[in-house]
Amino acid sequence: MTDARAIEGLSEADAAAELAALAETLLRANQDYHAEDAPQLSDAEYDRLKQRNAAVEAAFPHLKRADSPSDQVGAAPSDGFSKVAHAQRMLSLGNAFDAAGITEFDARIRKYLGLGPDAPLRYTAEPKIDGLSLSLRYENGALVQAATRGDGAVGENVTANARTIGDIPTRITGAPELLEVRGEVYMSHADFAALNTRQSEAGTKTFANPRNAAAGSLRQLDPSITRSRPLRFFAYAWGALSGPLAETQKAAIDRLAAFGFQTNPLTVLCDGPDEMLAHYATIEQQRASLGYDIDGVVYKVDDLALQHRLGFRSTTPRWAIAHKFPAELAWTRLEAIDIQVGRTGALSPVARLTPVTVGGVVVSNATLHNEDYIAGRDSTGREIRDGKDIRVGDWVQVYRAGDVIPKVADVDLSKRPANAEPYVFPETCPECGSDAIREEGDAVRRCSGGLICPAQAVEKLKHFVSRGAFDIEGLGAKQIEMFYHDDQLPVRTPADIFSLEARDVRNLTKLANRDGSGETSARNLFAAIKERRSVPLGRVIFALGIRHVGEVAAADLARHYGSWAALAEAVDLAGPAAERQLQADRAEARERQAAVQEGRRARIKPVRDAVWDGLDPAAHAAWADLTGIDGIGVTVAVALVTSFQQAAERASIDALVAELSIKDAAAPEVTGSPVAGKTVVFTGTLEKMTRAEAKARAEALGARVSGSVSAKTDIVIAGPGAGSKARKATDLGVEILDEDGWLALIDGA
Ligand code: IVH
Repeated sequence: MTDARAIEGLSEADAAAELAALAETLLRANQDYHAEDAPQLSDAEYDRLKQRNAAVEAAFPHLKRADSPSDQVGAAPSDGFSKVAHAQRMLSLGNAFDAAGITEFDARIRKYLGLGPDAPLRYTAEPKIDGLSLSLRYENGALVQAATRGDGAVGENVTANARTIGDIPTRITGAPELLEVRGEVYMSHADFAALNTRQSEAGTKTFANPRNAAAGSLRQLDPSITRSRPLRFFAYAWGALSGPLAETQKAAIDRLAAFGFQTNPLTVLCDGPDEMLAHYATIEQQRASLGYDIDGVVYKVDDLALQHRLGFRSTTPRWAIAHKFPAELAWTRLEAIDIQVGRTGALSPVARLTPVTVGGVVVSNATLHNEDYIAGRDSTGREIRDGKDIRVGDWVQVYRAGDVIPKVADVDLSKRPANAEPYVFPETCPECGSDAIREEGDAVRRCSGGLICPAQAVEKLKHFVSRGAFDIEGLGAKQIEMFYHDDQLPVRTPADIFSLEARDVRNLTKLANRDGSGETSARNLFAAIKERRSVPLGRVIFALGIRHVGEVAAADLARHYGSWAALAEAVDLAGPAAERQLQADRAEARERQAAVQEGRRARIKPVRDAVWDGLDPAAHAAWADLTGIDGIGVTVAVALVTSFQQAAERASIDALVAELSIKDAAAPEVTGSPVAGKTVVFTGTLEKMTRAEAKARAEALGARVSGSVSAKTDIVIAGPGAGSKARKATDLGVEILDEDGWLALIDGA
């Protein structure tokens, strides 16, 4: 695979920079797609970047970022439907794009389970339906609730609509008392075409593809409209259960069929990658004649006991993968390149294209990633597209798979206009005129204006009110734009939101809502804002929109520090250490360069260590504690600490905190576990299970798994070969267990 080759020889610094750039691009893509409804990246490109991100993470696991895009899933639910918290999260699937991805998937599973290459291991293989997932809750055989995936944790309640779908039984017999059936709502090609004909004859909206038609039809506030739409449903999974369905995936699916669900007839059992790939080829051949859209093949470990052992990463199961079909392509003219400025100041180039149909969807915008991409280089300076740059006026190839944000993939030099000039990437911010700076090792050029840049400030505010953050009803992206530019009642920082009502002495918000319900909406808005004065710690941290601090990192920080006061104190204490870290990185870079010039080996450790000499021990301890939190790497820690140190940023944070009552983070709720709430560190070699399995199991029992030993560590599990961590534990008087001791402790939990 090209990625594997590209990773060989990738330096640690470049890998970190690339992961930072990928996180930025992918998180932005999520935001554009879900919050702004303005996708810029195609599904295929999104998948490709996610895959690249995973490959770099796999090669440099210690550089995996706390806001890693690998840990993000789906969209938050929309307004209009009531919200439903899923009893069990609805997950997404990891992706593979070629045969190598499938053999790697099989090898990964064997490694995790400690199975040799020849041990039997069976998988199911079935089409990946291109629709939208739905969870159906049956209690005592009766359908009581249907919910969309939403963000995986909370979806939309579409029960009334689901009841109108013929493939969804409202009563089933012989099922466990509680059964959540999961599957895909979709529309057939024939029904889609007929629906579009009807819609256009009636002069109403037509749909771009069957998937959009299915989503638009299911998410109707009036169920009679859903009833009039020809939706179908395939069951392929389950959520909460009061009793087991079967011992294998295949038998469980067969039981769902026996309850009266449609299950996909192309589901088969495969003994390993060769058979899986053969079935992929069969399904790909039949794709065009199936009568409905599929976008790949899904493989799942058949043995449910093994599925259980394999468990989940944050948003995807380890025991399943989607093998995607290749993307769709088209050629068109690049009319212009626009620059968008994001929340963290990143300047993102967007291609404005002569509209072209790619796989049934009209595309007029696509992403160009960053200046290197336009120039024909990747972030490590190597050539991409054989070094061809992209110019305004060029004939370009647009690439998408599925329905989202397309990308410009290639350029046809034979059609380049004679007067086309190389694109000059702006070195000042197009929004505020500040210098746009590209730090060494960063693929992205950033506006240095901080909060004085209106684009950054607005994007930060939009992030602040977004769903995973403060999620204030009636205060979305549109209202933020309006309030930000309002001279009489401006909202320029998050704290301004909370002072809005007090400042609104002349009832200006009433004017702002010119839809006739001014008074009521203003009152509702103030009530919604008031409701959010009391918020959980993790949400506040995430809402600050600090670079690299995504939802997962924010939750990790909240869990670790417990309260705002503890977090703020630790971050302030760690301040001088973060500066040393940056100095150490620079010293390392200088040493590497000097070594190359002088033709000798670089001496990194002494150079780095020297930078830390004389640092206040309290700062050192706070830094070690912060960077030792599992999932919080140095990059996240530096970003967090530096943002607290910037005067304008800090003033904005302090003003916000003064308006809020921040709820402390509760210890994980796992009862009956002897290790709930304890901080544990694994070191040395484990013999009975792999490190990944040990960590996943400890976390499932409510323990925190940390990478470094400190006074806060409760237990160190030391296997053979344990070194400095075990010694430190002894010095600190921390309890040390061997693997058997640990297993005995958690036995039966
Ligand atoms: S299994 C825990 N099987 O693909 C794993 N998903 O990209 C649950 N999808 O969210 C998913 N066909 O909406 C599974 N045969 C299939 C599927 C399938 C389509 C969708 C599903 C999922 C998405 C992930």
